[in-house]
Amino acid sequence: MAKRNIQVCMTPKLFGLYADKKSIVVVVDVLRATSSMCIAFEKGVEKLIPVSTVEEALEYRNGGRDYILVAERNGKAVKSFDFGNSPQVYLDMDVKGRTVVMTTTNGTKSINIAKKDHDVVVGSFLNLDAIAKWLIKQDRDVIIFCAGWKDKFNLEDTLFAGALVEQLLDTDLYDNSCDATQASQVLWDRAKDDLFGFLKNSSHRNRLAKLNIDSDVHFCLKANQTNKIPILKGNVLVVEDEC
Ligand code: MLT
Repeated sequence: MAKRNIQVCMTPKLFGLYADKKSIVVVVDVLRATSSMCIAFEKGVEKLIPVSTVEEALEYRNGGRDYILVAERNGKAVKSFDFGNSPQVYLDMDVKGRTVVMTTTNGTKSINIAKKDHDVVVGSFLNLDAIAKWLIKQDRDVIIFCAGWKDKFNLEDTLFAGALVEQLLDTDLYDNSCDATQASQVLWDRAKDDLFGFLKNSSHRNRLAKLNIDSDVHFCLKANQTNKIPILKGNVLVVEDEC
């Protein structure tokens, strides 16, 4: 039986080179968009609408519905929104049944790029094992789409890719011919015993540290805090039915 493909796309600018209109795309933005999405669903959010611009998000405010509006640019919360993009805001809030409208610097943009021709699910360290198990049950090729930072490579998303690749390749159901897939694995092997330490000089860790949100980094690197798998249905993320 032919093996399934795994590809790792390191930045949004490269996605057109990997798009094949058939793979399942796992969008990852560890710090912090997809980590926030995963914990939001774990805490009971019913729907999450990822939009690419602040203006689009604000249109929902005038829509009359009781949306929670969150926006981040350059790591900081955008004024006039309910929250920025810290995943920890969902820990102390009653968000059961609520709809979140979210726009972030890279993560929501990547989802909106991928959705044009592909099925899209959201990954982070928070749902690592769950998404690996779910992908293994789908007889589909996989593209792991790293949101990066403003179209540049970043370490943390690529480390997630390596961690997910490790689990998929252990099944012997996938081939390993993509160089970026192999590179992500090498990076993961090098970092997996001390992710926080490995990332101490990373660009985004330092960006968040300057904003005094290092605790978010610790939170986003803690694996398997949820089994929820956010899946895009049209323009809305919902929780994939447990399969
Ligand atoms: C992103 O979109 O790159 C991140 O979510 C930014 C952040 O949360 O700091």
